[in-house]
Amino acid sequence: MNALTHPLTHLVNLQSPLNLKDYYQQGGYLGAEKALKAYSPSQVLDIVKKSQLKGRGGAGFPTGMKWSFVPDYDESDPRSQENKYLVCNADEMEPGTFKDRLLLEGVPHQLIEAMIIAAYTIGANKAYIFLRGEYHLAAQRIETALKEAYQANWLGKNIQGSDYQLDLYLHTSAGRYICGEETALINALEGKRANPRAKPPFPQVAGLFGKPTIVNNVETLCNLPHILKNGPEWFINLAPNSDAGSKIYGACGRIKNPGLWELPMGATIGEVLNKHAGGMQEGLKLKGLLPGGASTDFLLPEHLDTPMDYDSIAKAGSRLGTGGLIVLDDKNCPVAMVLNLLQFFAQESCGWCTPCRDGTPWAVEILTRIEQGKGTIDDIDSLLKLCDFMWIGKTHCALAPGAVEPLKSALKYFNDEFMQHIEQGCCPYHGAY
Ligand code: NAI
Repeated sequence: MNALTHPLTHLVNLQSPLNLKDYYQQGGYLGAEKALKAYSPSQVLDIVKKSQLKGRGGAGFPTGMKWSFVPDYDESDPRSQENKYLVCNADEMEPGTFKDRLLLEGVPHQLIEAMIIAAYTIGANKAYIFLRGEYHLAAQRIETALKEAYQANWLGKNIQGSDYQLDLYLHTSAGRYICGEETALINALEGKRANPRAKPPFPQVAGLFGKPTIVNNVETLCNLPHILKNGPEWFINLAPNSDAGSKIYGACGRIKNPGLWELPMGATIGEVLNKHAGGMQEGLKLKGLLPGGASTDFLLPEHLDTPMDYDSIAKAGSRLGTGGLIVLDDKNCPVAMVLNLLQFFAQESCGWCTPCRDGTPWAVEILTRIEQGKGTIDDIDSLLKLCDFMWIGKTHCALAPGAVEPLKSALKYFNDEFMQHIEQGCCPYHGAY
């Protein structure tokens, strides 16, 4: 592993992350130094735009474009730096997703360096890391790194002799999935109930405390020091396909070697699953998989050659999401798997809009019936109607449409298994309940 091929993870040390001195020795803070000393904020913005970096939280929105929506960008007016915020979304709660945890626990200074670059570019003097409540070890390690960064004047006033100042705070979440939705996160940070807000206005214009705010995912941000050090062309050339950079892919399920691997963006599903995750455990066959966390559509063994980039996965009928594969084998019941996912989404619904508040538990009720062998053919029809009822445009945020993705695609690909439950009056995998 080296810095040019595995920029995000080459310094990861889960036993004992690098302290500031050792991080320096490995080229740490050179990206932030370059940004502050060699470039104006608008020049950094141009570099990030040129790099074609896209958000790694799940949606894949172009990072440079997102930053460029922050209004009143005026380098000559110091007041334009007031009252803007940068927030790192470290509320990683997508099932089957643990990539940000690796970066948070394994190399916390990288994130701090990245946030200095991002905050400087958008003109924010205050930044927050909104951390998943259960990530206790990450919290401790970030606190330690923050102290070191303040002591070494990477945070605070006149950073490294520049006229730029930044205060960076760690905020730990109370522990709800919906807090990872950027506007719910902002409400939570303001001390309010974590209901998503209506968009527009997008946070870039009216976010934290009503001020322009950029919310970026951990992995997205951690690319910045390397883009600054090595340039946008290097970043683009890391990947063979249309999307730039590297990606931390993951895999879990009954596979030989569950884990995380930083690979060029666009590695195929088969490469991640068979080469890196070691393939299926003995006696099991691949039946299907969710390519990027629970809120993505199932794909099938026939999709193994699909590159895991945004466009290719979309063409195959799903979304790259977080890039964390959740693998379904042939001895596990697809109905039970989808029921399990829907139970999660129903529990985590904020309850604000009817399709999500009532639709997700309704889906759980019907799926439970089918799984227990008490379902009817009409239940399949009801589930399909529910999928439409909870789809994009009919809900307040992306939670319910995310829940629909595995459900709808399971109904499409595993229709035979749903029918077997109904016709046999029991689960063909687990027997009678
Ligand atoms: P989104 O597509 O609505 O927005 C993505 C980002 O782009 C946001 O920052 C948004 O402000 C910006 N954006 C989108 N359209 C814009 C426009 N017209 N103008 C200005 N800015 C715009 O997606 P959302 O709802 O923020 O995130 C959904 C994704 O989150 C899903 O793809 C899911 O995979 C992922 N997710 C990840 C989790 C994790 O633990 N990493 C947890 C839950 C969901």
